[in-house]
Amino acid sequence: MKKQKIVIVSGATGDLGRAYLEYYAKQPNISCYGLIRREERNPISGVEYLTSDLEDAVAVREQIQKIPLKDIAEVILIHPVGKFKFEPNGIPEVDKTGDGIDDDVFTSNVDTFHNIARVILEQREEHPNISVTLAAFGSLSDPYEVPWWGSYTKSKLILRKEMRDLSRIEPAVNSVFMNLSSVKTSKENKTRPYADTKYWLSPEEVVERSVRTIENPQQSYSELDLYNPSPEYTGSYYKNFEELRRKWLREMNGGK
Ligand SMILES: NC(=O)c1ccc[n+]([C@@H]2O[C@H](COP(=O)([O-])OP(=O)(O)OC[C@H]3O[C@@H](n4cnc5c(N)ncnc54)[C@H](OP(=O)(O)O)[C@@H]3O)[C@@H](O)[C@H]2O)c1
Repeated sequence: MKKQKIVIVSGATGDLGRAYLEYYAKQPNISCYGLIRREERNPISGVEYLTSDLEDAVAVREQIQKIPLKDIAEVILIHPVGKFKFEPNGIPEVDKTGDGIDDDVFTSNVDTFHNIARVILEQREEHPNISVTLAAFGSLSDPYEVPWWGSYTKSKLILRKEMRDLSRIEPAVNSVFMNLSSVKTSKENKTRPYADTKYWLSPEEVVERSVRTIENPQQSYSELDLYNPSPEYTGSYYKNFEELRRKWLREMNGGK
């Protein structure tokens, strides 16, 4: 039987990217591609891996153009990529562009998305009947503009706006943005080794709770809040900036 859908997962060596690929590789009639920048030592059967640094627009184009699109009805891009940086004084570490956003954080969150989404959309000049779903991730904290990770929040707000605009302007493009609580990824465990992870989401929970919307978005742009109910997470949780700063420092350094 012909495969009619393509799922491209960037950040495929990350725990979240891997969890999406584990899920989609088991689904019928879907061809799965994982974008990586370093060797995948434990490849998932049925996934084709393409190697490029997502910050290198030319290299990304070369890789995406290798994906055959003949007879494909839909392409889903899942983009779980985007650096978090703690900013203890509320100011960006490196800001040569002067936009108030740390340059690395912006590039990692916004440019990587452009580089891959743009090429996928360009491919529709030759294959105009393909519909596209774009999925990306931010934090539940983004609407509160917490100053201690302002570059991350600002980048994610720009990403949301771009995805909303794309789904409004481009025909047959849907966007889904996931607002996540903390997720048990090895990256996050390394960043906050002293955190209590009892209520954190697992990557598999994120996948389980998002695939229905990604596969059948009810609107051209939608957002999903994903978290496990925690007694700590009340309406004021992200508003108490001083307490958040102390908590993050404790979780990162164990109070040292
Ligand atoms: N984990 C959380 O608690 C949490 C909470 C809220 C939102 N999120 C969002 O969820 C997404 C994934 O987070 P995560 O914690 O799963 O991160 P992660 O484990 O660090 O995964 C990120 C993936 O992106 C890849 N990547 C980063 N920059 C790249 C580049 N320039 N070129 C190619 N690949 C690149 C990484 O590759 P390498 O393996 O080579 O580094 C890795 O595979 C991010 O958008 C993040 O903002 C996470």
